[in-house]
Amino acid sequence: MTNRTGRIGGKVALVTGAARGLGRASAVRFAAEGADLVLVDVCGPLPGVDYESAVPSDLAETAKLAEAHGARVITGQVDVRDLGGLRAVVDGAVAELGRLDVVVANAGICIPRAWDQVTPEILRDTLDVNVTGVWNTVMAGAPHLIDAGGGSIILISSAAGMKVQPFMVPYTTSKWAVRGMAKAFAAELAKHQIRVNSVHPTGMATPLGSGDMQVALATARDTDPRLNGMFANMLPVQMTQPEDVAGTVLFLASDDAEFMTAHEVAPDAGVTEF
Ligand SMILES: NC(=O)c1ccc[n+]([C@@H]2O[C@H](COP(=O)([O-])OP(=O)(O)OC[C@H]3O[C@@H](n4cnc5c(N)ncnc54)[C@H](O)[C@@H]3O)[C@@H](O)[C@H]2O)c1
Repeated sequence: MTNRTGRIGGKVALVTGAARGLGRASAVRFAAEGADLVLVDVCGPLPGVDYESAVPSDLAETAKLAEAHGARVITGQVDVRDLGGLRAVVDGAVAELGRLDVVVANAGICIPRAWDQVTPEILRDTLDVNVTGVWNTVMAGAPHLIDAGGGSIILISSAAGMKVQPFMVPYTTSKWAVRGMAKAFAAELAKHQIRVNSVHPTGMATPLGSGDMQVALATARDTDPRLNGMFANMLPVQMTQPEDVAGTVLFLASDDAEFMTAHEVAPDAGVTEF
């Protein structure tokens, strides 16, 4: 049953990269706390990555899990690099669900390589998805938040956007850009009662953060093992779960974070201070 008295009861949230990982965990957590959802994912081959790509049934499964909490869910298979496609999905969903209050720009890719193994294509693809895709998501969502009288925009960066992380120059560059983008949007959207913050997780057990991605990272790390300590968490955990980080995303979406804007929020197990 829909929990209309939940922490974001009655709100509508857009989540990109919702087929799996942190996007799915955030969507399901939002649904459990009373929100209706617009869920977007490309559900197809990701450029250049070392890990498996999501498929349409993954997005359908996220929708099913959210609907089990009573949420109304609209899904869209679209690439966040496609601003027109994104706007069409979001505009259509808002026409049906009536409003938009929360935007989570979560879709991202990570292609670890030693610095001299990074190709122009890896740099371009990483910036296109992780930076332009996030900007597109805000541009598609923010006008509807203005119409709703305010809201919360959450940009998923990374610990790599707060601390230098080696062996991923394009990814680190993209995540610092997202951190700056959050602050820049926060300033101009404040007059509309819209809060904008960035989230900086440490390694999470998702397809992006484990398996074949870790194999590629290990290959890169072998080029300079002196830097291995830069990945160590202060808390005694190797990895966090996407469900752990979804709690932080929910907090920022909720009125508990009513006066929090233009900040970095780091569910990072202390890695950025270690
Ligand atoms: N997993 C980690 O260790 C980790 C750590 C810090 C930050 N992050 C960030 O968290 C976010 C989510 O990552 P995750 O670990 O859940 O990854 P994931 O690969 O498990 O899920 C990402 C989802 O985004 C989708 N996606 C990717 N590119 C897209 C595009 N162009 N258009 C639409 N959808 C697209 C994928 O299809 C996938 O379903 C990313 O921004 C990532 O950089 C992840």
